[in-house]
Amino acid sequence: MSVNVTARQEKLADLVKSATVIPVLTIERLEHAVPLARALVAGGVRVLEVTLRTPVAIEAAKAMIAEVPDAIVGIGTILNGDDLKRTEALGAKFGISPGATPELLKAAAASDLPFAPGIATASELMQALAHGLDLVKFFPAEQSGGIKALRALAGPFPHIRVCPTGGIGEANAAAWLAEPNVLAVGGSWLCPAADIRSGNWAGISAMCARAMKTLKPA
Ligand code: 3PG
Repeated sequence: MSVNVTARQEKLADLVKSATVIPVLTIERLEHAVPLARALVAGGVRVLEVTLRTPVAIEAAKAMIAEVPDAIVGIGTILNGDDLKRTEALGAKFGISPGATPELLKAAAASDLPFAPGIATASELMQALAHGLDLVKFFPAEQSGGIKALRALAGPFPHIRVCPTGGIGEANAAAWLAEPNVLAVGGSWLCPAADIRSGNWAGISAMCARAMKTLKPA
C-alpha cells in the first residue's frame, strides 16, 4: 500500500463532497467534449467523470482539461492497471471504477491517483478497505438494493464514504444525499445522450443549474 493512500483518499473525499453531483459522461464524438464540459460548468457542475466507454474518451478528457480550466476532470470505467496508467498520464484529477478486482486494487494502492473502486457487496468492500480505499462507488446503487442495502453495509462498515451511481436521477438524488455516508451522487441523467447528440448545451446547463439549486442550495 502506498504510504500516502490516506492523504489521497482525503483529497478525493474533499473533491467528491464539493461536487454534490458527478455526471457520468459517455462521449461518442470528440467535438462534443469541450461544449459539453462548458455546458456542465455553466450549470454549476464542475466535477466530471469521463467514462472509458468510447474510443474517443481519452482524447475527450484531454480536450476538456486543456480547454475548460474550471472543469475538474476524472476518468470512470477504469477496469485494470493499464486504464489507471492512461488516466494518470493524461492528467486526470481522479479515477473511478465500477468494480474492484485484486489486480486493479493493487495498482490503485500503488499509484498516486485519487481513486474510488466500485463495490456492491461486503466482500468487495472488504477488499477495497484492505488497500486503504475507504471511499467507494456503490454500483449499481438502485439495482443492488438501494438505500436499504447501503444502510445495511454501513452496519459492519460505519466509516465508509460512498458515491452511489446507477439508477439515480432527479427523483431520488436528494434521498441518497441525505444518507450520512454519501458524499455525492453520480449518474448519467444530467447528460442525456439525445441532448449531447443534438448539441442541446443550453438544455444541459439548465438541467444542471436546476439540480444544483435543489440539491445544494446556496
Ligand atoms: C455508472 O457508470 O455510474 C452508471 O452507468 C451510471 O448509471 P446511470 O446511467 O443509471 O446513471
